[in-house]
Amino acid sequence: QVISLITIIAAYLLGSIPSGVWIGKLFYHKDIREFGSGNMGTTNTFRVLGTKAGIIVLIMDILKGSIATLLPIWFGLPIHPLLTGVVASIGHTLPIFASFRGGKAVATSAGIILAYNPLFFTLAIICFLIYLFISSMVSFASIVACLTAIVISFFMGDVWLIVVTVSLTSYIIYRHRANIQRIKEGTETMVPFGLRYNK
Ligand code: G3P
Repeated sequence: QVISLITIIAAYLLGSIPSGVWIGKLFYHKDIREFGSGNMGTTNTFRVLGTKAGIIVLIMDILKGSIATLLPIWFGLPIHPLLTGVVASIGHTLPIFASFRGGKAVATSAGIILAYNPLFFTLAIICFLIYLFISSMVSFASIVACLTAIVISFFMGDVWLIVVTVSLTSYIIYRHRANIQRIKEGTETMVPFGLRYNK
């Protein structure tokens, strides 16, 4: 039981690693939370620091969710892998290593489902890319892909996957409050990809 508790704490600490903030400060001497959308996630890293940093942060943030999910399996612990995955996502949004000013949980949550159910992950990513192509907005694509993932989760025959998908989607939407406001006002930032982006 102590090992399980330590693993849950480790999952939180892993999720807490503020990849975007650390990469920005270490290699670019910038706190990305002071620029762009003010978020420390992949999208804002691409926006503020460029493609190379964006890809590295995307991989790191996905890995945080995947590794945290795999910990109970690797150590044969009696805790559900989705639990440690969710704890890592919470760590990403409220990181102890970055004054609890964290991201919006999209990439880390994607990492959870990549490790837990690759088919579910693939379907969700395809939806995300379609929505991104249509909207040119990462925030919009993330929110709608999460909502679609709820529908997909019902076909996976796994009650815990449904529960976690519904919970994380609600949390991710909550973390996107400012983005939702900007989408409504028509002022949300576009990415240079897809139908709506004007060069
Ligand atoms: O994963 C976060 C993304 O959906 C939005 O990021 O920086 O545009 O608020 P951002």
